[in-house]
Amino acid sequence: MSTRDPAETDTLTPTAPLEGTATTVGRGGDWWRTAVIYQVYPRSFADHDGDGVGDLPGITSRLDALGELGVDAVWLSPFYTSPQRDAGYDVADYRDVDPLFGTLADFDALRARATELGLRVIVDVVPNHTSSDHAWFREALASAPGSPARGRYLFRDGRGPDGDLPPNNWQSIFGGPAWSRVTEADGRPGQWYLHLFDSSQPDLDWTNRRVRDEFVDVLRFWLDRGVDGFRVDVAHGMIKAEGLPDYTPPADSGSMGGGQGESAPPPYWGQEGVHEIYREWNAVLAGYPGDRVLVAEAWVEPLSRLADWVRPDEMHQAFNFAYLETGWSAPAVRQVVDASIETFSSVGAPSTWVLSNHDVVRHASRLALTAENPQGHGIGPASEGLPVPELGLARARAASTLMLALPGSAYIYQGEELGLPEAIDLPDESRQDPTWFRTGGERYGRDGCRVPLPWSATEPAFGFNATGASWLPQPADWSTYARDEQRGVAGSTLELYTRALRLRADHELGAGTLTWLDGFGPDVVAFRNQGVTVVTNMGEVPVELPVAEVLLATMVVDGPALPPNATVWLAATA
Ligand code: NOJ
Repeated sequence: MSTRDPAETDTLTPTAPLEGTATTVGRGGDWWRTAVIYQVYPRSFADHDGDGVGDLPGITSRLDALGELGVDAVWLSPFYTSPQRDAGYDVADYRDVDPLFGTLADFDALRARATELGLRVIVDVVPNHTSSDHAWFREALASAPGSPARGRYLFRDGRGPDGDLPPNNWQSIFGGPAWSRVTEADGRPGQWYLHLFDSSQPDLDWTNRRVRDEFVDVLRFWLDRGVDGFRVDVAHGMIKAEGLPDYTPPADSGSMGGGQGESAPPPYWGQEGVHEIYREWNAVLAGYPGDRVLVAEAWVEPLSRLADWVRPDEMHQAFNFAYLETGWSAPAVRQVVDASIETFSSVGAPSTWVLSNHDVVRHASRLALTAENPQGHGIGPASEGLPVPELGLARARAASTLMLALPGSAYIYQGEELGLPEAIDLPDESRQDPTWFRTGGERYGRDGCRVPLPWSATEPAFGFNATGASWLPQPADWSTYARDEQRGVAGSTLELYTRALRLRADHELGAGTLTWLDGFGPDVVAFRNQGVTVVTNMGEVPVELPVAEVLLATMVVDGPALPPNATVWLAATA
């Protein structure tokens, strides 16, 4: 398939592209600088034992599909011992696998299979808080105020004459107060403990050396087991401002990052003290062979501040949430891409790109929302501005292929390669996100992006397992998204991703240089990277294309025009 002859370009294309300024990211170097990393959400990837919750043997049995897709690494969300009050982000034992997911031997088998397939493995570490089931917290509850056991967490006396008011006004990210009061051994109401998330997730006190030593040991445990790195949960939250001062975030802020556009960060996010923790961790990883990496989940704004997390002696990557949060707007995308490349490269780090994960509305729905939807609030049947599914899918395909052409490292969230939308119509009684409960149903939360994957159009639970059980119900029409319906089918989203990843590797786009192309008009994102021309039409009218071979297109490009909500990759012309 090709568009017009190169010779016609200038005459027939009044808006023929002109080369603009070039922005470069570092070439060569370590695998993670250019890697495509696939997020596996273990609860929902594949369920070997048929109990309705995914598990490690299930992942291992399906890893071939990720090899075939062409990713470089997988990141596994938590599978550690946990009461699952926050889907595993409430860890009770950092050195073991929850029976729900399998055993340490199952992890080793997964690791081994990944190695055979040439896939790296990154695991999650959750250092801001433990589960309230963790032995440390149980010990703290059984110990007196002021004891060393309480000193690992943030216990404080309450305010007011009887201490019955929380120590400050902080609110939990999931809604409701960020403090819960304990009952002391003598049966009387006692101290309060801080939990920025659910009450089952007490925050650790990272000024305590014992806490720091414990996590160095946890890192070593998994490094010794062969992991290639860690995605660090809430990497902007571990240190709190001295004195825990009151703070009220802006009303419209997303759950994880509220208020950081201001000059001073909130007292619980982005405090300077977190950086010495990562410097210590960086040295731990550097002591191991291979390129082991730390990836920050840090909802920090602006991007220039996030650069501090990826200075040469700290983390290696940070999720680019500024990019994720950019809407369907060409000027905004150009601006955030420029700012990202410039900011990350200023500290020698690659930019990352990400559009979806287990905490946000899937981008096949999000990019067509017509109402504001702060991160973490989720969408459900009663939400305003619900997306038109076809428009959402078209934009998602266009956005994903734009992303995969950018220099740097890209993250894919399981299911986006199938074009999965957010599951909007989940029955209320099936919802499990603490956000839903802590806001009395005011916020739907994140369950809609966590529904188990469809592998097969015709099998029980769409092939997620053999029993048909599923911890969140799968929408009936997900048969159309099933992997076996898309595999080898021209034009399917799975084939689009597979082809994009192959071309990305062949042309070494991850290590390339981005040069903006002008002349397509304000609603178009157009750039060249390693000789590949990428054009995304975010406007409402077709856009005339230069004459070139079409390498990849998210819609049928028949003739010289690119329809709205579409991306095309064109080969270099002679
Ligand atoms: C960020 C994780 O991605 C999210 O799922 C979790 O609820 C919070 N951190 C708390 O651990």
